[in-house]
Amino acid sequence: MVVADSGLEGVVAASSSICDVDGLNGVLIYRGYDIRDLAHNSNFEETTCLLWNADLPDRATLESFRADIQANMVLPGPIVDLLRSFPRSAPLTAILRTAFSAMAIYDEDVSDGSIEAVRRKAIRATARMGPLVAAIHRVSADLPILEPREGSIAGNFLYLLHGEWPDEVSEHVYDVCLVLHADHEFNASTFAARVTMATLSDYHSAITSALGALFGPLHGGANEGAIKMLREIGTPDRAAAWVRAALARKQRIMGFGHRVYKVYDPRARELKDMSRALAAAQGDMSLYESSVEIEKVMESDRKLFPNVDFYSASTFTALGIPGALFTPIFAVSRIAGWSAHVMEQLTHNRLIRPRAEYLGERGRSYIPIQER
Ligand code: CMC
Repeated sequence: MVVADSGLEGVVAASSSICDVDGLNGVLIYRGYDIRDLAHNSNFEETTCLLWNADLPDRATLESFRADIQANMVLPGPIVDLLRSFPRSAPLTAILRTAFSAMAIYDEDVSDGSIEAVRRKAIRATARMGPLVAAIHRVSADLPILEPREGSIAGNFLYLLHGEWPDEVSEHVYDVCLVLHADHEFNASTFAARVTMATLSDYHSAITSALGALFGPLHGGANEGAIKMLREIGTPDRAAAWVRAALARKQRIMGFGHRVYKVYDPRARELKDMSRALAAAQGDMSLYESSVEIEKVMESDRKLFPNVDFYSASTFTALGIPGALFTPIFAVSRIAGWSAHVMEQLTHNRLIRPRAEYLGERGRSYIPIQER
C-alpha cells in the first residue's frame, strides 16, 4: 500500500476545472483567469458566476444572477429567532455553523438533491451568508437586525453590519476581499464539503462540514489570530522583538506560511496594497506598519511569507469589522467556492473513501472484563 505524506501533502485527490494554485510561482487562477486580473476588474457577483458556470457571464446573465441574489437576501424568520435564542457568550463561529445548518430545515428544496435544486440552494446560501453573519454580530451586540437594501453583496454586508451604507471605497475594498477569498482549490474546508457531498448527502450538510473545517486556526481562523497578535504588539516599534520572542517560544505566527505557496501568496499582495491605501486615507498607519515589520522578520528569519489571512486583518479592521467576525466573514466569500466545488462533485460524483495505513495490533483475543 502506498502511504501518503502526512497531511496529504502534495497528493492530488481529484480533478477539478474550477481553480488552480501554482505554489512555486505564486499564481492563483479561477477558471483560467488570474486572481489579480479578477481583483482589479471583476466583482464578487460576477466572479461567483464565473466559478459556478465556467465562463464570465454576459450582461443579461449577470443581471439575472444579481436579481436572484437580491430576492433571497432576507433571512428566514425562524433563523432570526434561533439567533436570538443563543447565549450572548456563545462563540460566533458556533452560532454561524448551527444557524447555517438550521437553514436546511427552512429551505424550500430541502428534500431535493438534484443539481438544479443544489444550484437554487447555493444562490440562497450565497445571498444569505453575509446577512447571517451581520445578524449574528448585531444580536451579540444587542443591536436590531436590519433588512437588506438594493445593492451588492459587499455593500449589503457592510450596511447590515454597521447600519450605514458604506462609502464607495469601502464597498469596493470589501468587494475585492470577497473576490480574493472566493475559492482556493482543495483547501481543507472545500475538501470537507466535497467529501460530504460525495456521499450524496445534502447541500447544507456539505457546507456545514466546510464551515467546521474553516474555523480552525490553521485555516480560516488565522485572520482572527493575526489581529489578536497585532493588538497585543501595539505599536510598530515593538513588532520585530515581539515576533522574534514568539518564534523562539516555537509559537506559530498567524497569517504566515502555506501548505502550497512556497512564495508570496498573490492574494496577500493585493490585500497589502489595500491595507496600505486604507491606512493612508484614514491617517493611521500603525496596524499596517506593524504588519510590515512582522513580515520583514518572518522573511529574513524563517523564509515564510504572508498568506491571505495576514493583511486581511488590517484591511478588515480599517473597514470597521470587529476581529471576532474575521473568521465568520471568510464564509461570506468562500460560500461561492464551496458551492462551485459541491456542484462539480455532484456532477462527476464518486464516493471519496481513502484507506489508512494500519499501525495497530492484530490477532488479539477478547479478554473478559473481570480478567483485565
Ligand atoms: N509561524 C512559525 N513557523 C511556521 C509557520 C508560522 N506561521 N508556518 C510554518 N512554520 C514552520 C513550522 O513550524 C515548521 O517548522 P519545523 O519544520 O522547524 O517544525 C515548518 O514551518 C513547516 O510547517 P508545517 O506545519 O509542516 O507546514 P504545513 O504545510 O503543514 O502548514 C500552515 C501550513 C498554513 C498550517 C502553517 O504554515 C501555519 O500553521 N500557519 C499559521 C496559520 C495560518 O496562517 N493559516 C492560514 C493558512 S492560509 C489561509 C487558509 O487556508 O485559510
